[in-house]
Amino acid sequence: MIATRLHPDKQTAAQAIAREIADLIEIRSKSGKSTVLGLATGSTPLPLYAELIRLHREAGVSFRTVITFNLDEYEGLGPTHPQSYRFFMEENLFRHLDIPAANIHIPDGLANDPAKNCADFEAAIRDAGGIDLQILGIGRTGHIGFNEPPSAADSRTRRVHLDEVTRRDNSVFFGDLDQVPHGALTMGVATILEARRIELIAFGEAKAEIVRRAMQEAPSPSCPATWLQQHPGCTFHLDAAAAKAL
Ligand code: PGA
Repeated sequence: MIATRLHPDKQTAAQAIAREIADLIEIRSKSGKSTVLGLATGSTPLPLYAELIRLHREAGVSFRTVITFNLDEYEGLGPTHPQSYRFFMEENLFRHLDIPAANIHIPDGLANDPAKNCADFEAAIRDAGGIDLQILGIGRTGHIGFNEPPSAADSRTRRVHLDEVTRRDNSVFFGDLDQVPHGALTMGVATILEARRIELIAFGEAKAEIVRRAMQEAPSPSCPATWLQQHPGCTFHLDAAAAKAL
């Protein structure tokens, strides 16, 4: 059962989720525990990251006890490539916060042995005690992370082939479709479903149909986001346009 929360605008959604994250960090750090966050890239989480930075600067929220795992990375792009997700995260979040560098985990797009990199990534999540709260966007193919259709419910962190719809959608960031990698490393569906809480964010009319499918179609590999229906604590944060087809 997926819960929905309607927000008047992106900023209000960002404030609500950022507050939830700050509260979680505070409660856990009081009892000496770290907080494990699963993070996403793309344009959707940007207002959330801006709000987390504001809470750090203006409200004194510390992220020293936070451990992060990003969902995915393009194959072939290193940390200095402006379209790599490592670069995106440094620019839009990490360099503005006090998360210890050793606590940050993103699949390595340049790994010589991608299968080992993915297995190490899974092991690091387990060693951290699992993900407390996972942020997700949703692609028009129904992907979560880069789990394109078909992606099974028991899939793990692995190398994947990007859907052409996704490559075209993401080509706006690259300026040229030919520059968009064909492959990626992504956290698996099973890995995502093990997070204790999942907050998916979708804004705008372009997401309305896939939001409807994710919530209303029977769970299947052909729309990976439908697997979220099997999670006990998943909320879709939507604006009116994204909720339009529900
Ligand atoms: P977007 O991407 O935030 O740029 O819309 C979402 C996704 O592909 O998961």
